[in-house]
Formats: sequence, structure tokens, C-alpha cells
Amino acid sequence: MTESTIERRNLRMVFDAERPRFWHSGNARISRFYDALSMSFPPGEKSFIESVREFAEGIEDEQLQKDIQGFIRQEADHTREHARYNATLKAQGVDVDFHTSLTAKPVELTRRYLSPKRNLARTVGMEHITAILSDLALSDPRVLEGADEQVRRIWNWHAIEEIEHKGVAFDVFERAVPNKLERYFLRTTVMLWSTLGYSVGMTTSITLMLWQDRKLFDIRDWGQAFRFFWIRPAVIPRAFGRWLAYFRPGFHPWQHDNRELVETYAAELDRAENA
Ligand SMILES: [Fe+2]
Ligand SMILES: [Fe+2]
Repeated sequence: MTESTIERRNLRMVFDAERPRFWHSGNARISRFYDALSMSFPPGEKSFIESVREFAEGIEDEQLQKDIQGFIRQEADHTREHARYNATLKAQGVDVDFHTSLTAKPVELTRRYLSPKRNLARTVGMEHITAILSDLALSDPRVLEGADEQVRRIWNWHAIEEIEHKGVAFDVFERAVPNKLERYFLRTTVMLWSTLGYSVGMTTSITLMLWQDRKLFDIRDWGQAFRFFWIRPAVIPRAFGRWLAYFRPGFHPWQHDNRELVETYAAELDRAENA
């Protein structure tokens, strides 16, 4: 069940290495949270594409075939633009290769030692997490309030497309694993360990950057970020509720219908492009 058309926007972002290092409301922790996400994308999205491609050939549903192509193009575009974003981080002194390897290494191990079905289940789980973060970013303006305009633009664009293609890997997975019980077992167990692994990688990445920034023990920065993540807009508790929904036996990403966010923000993006 795919209910959205997947459009390739193929945008080119403009990044300026002169932008402030703490581009999100002057806060190091919030900025580095997004920077760590960005550095995880090139290997992460490559693995999403590969795991879906593995099963694409056997799919006869024409609409789903089109959606798979749309999904692959969008993820490839994201990787290209995030690599450019990451290049500006490198110019600002961040060891991008190391931070990226925190995702690349586990992804490589998963690919080498686990079955294609498990790799696909991992993609389905990670796509749910990106869809949650995207929905939060677009549905609550406070999430990207105070962000540098250039950087806000890439996150908005990425969020639109993540919502647009959020059902694709799931729909491929349903066909790749026809047995309901096996499917439920696979996607839930894989979600648990991949969330844990990704959280450890992200936390390591953020902590090391903050150490290098000499912000690790900055109490004011910590307080602002605590408020952002836990109280207002409360990114973590809200994300956790949505993450839990994944464990419902009949879960499908489009049960939470947020297509109107795509329409609203895509129109805004178009207006900004043509301005
Ligand atoms: Fe993406
Ligand atoms: Fe995605």
C-alpha cells in the first residue's frame, strides 16, 4: 500500500563553510546532533538503496516499481547533498571520515554477515526513524526555529522526501517476507538492535564533537539542549511515542497520514527556488 507519489526534486544546496559552527540557535548540542545525522547519511542511505534493490527485481506491482525508482533517486540525491554539507563540516575542522565510519563500519558488517531480509528489515526500521524525525521537523516549526537558513533548507527538503517515500521499503519488505509472523519478528527484533546501535554511534559522534568544540561541559548549552530535546518541543519523548507505534502488529507507515506536510513544504520550497 503506497499512497504517495514520489517526486525527484534533485535540488542543489548552497553551503558556506563560513556559516556559524553552532548554526542551530547558537547551541552546540542541537547543531551537532544534526551534523552527526548528516555524517551518518552517506553510508546509511547507500545501504538503504542496496537492501531495497536486492528485492526489487522480483516485484511485479508496477506502482511499487515506480516508487522504488523514486526512492532510490531521492536517497541518492540526499547522499550527494549531505556529502557537500559534510565537506563544509570538514572545512570547519570536523573529522568527517571518522564520524562517517561510525555508521559505515556497522553497516558493512551487517551487510557482510546478515541475510538480505535482515538488511532490508534494518532499512525499514531506519526509514521509520527518519520519517519520525522528518514529521517532527515539519509539523512543529520550533524544531528548526533559530536555524541557519542554508542548513534549514537541506533539512526541510530531506524531510519532505523522507515522508514522501516512507512506505516504500516497508512495502518491499511485505513482499520479500510474505509470512506475517516472520515479518513481525524480523522487523521488531532488527528495530531494537539497530536503534540501539545507531544511538550509540550518534552519541559517540556528538560527544566527540562537543569535546573538540570545548562545549562538553558548558552548562548553559546543556540546559538549552535539554529543554529542546525533552521539554519544548520535546523531540525525544515525542519521537519515542512514534517509535513505539512500530511495534504494533498491523503497523504501516501510512497509518499516520501526513501528506499535507509534503504539500505545504514542497510548495514553500518551490517558491524559494523560484524567488
Ligand atoms: Fe534520505
Ligand atoms: Fe529514506
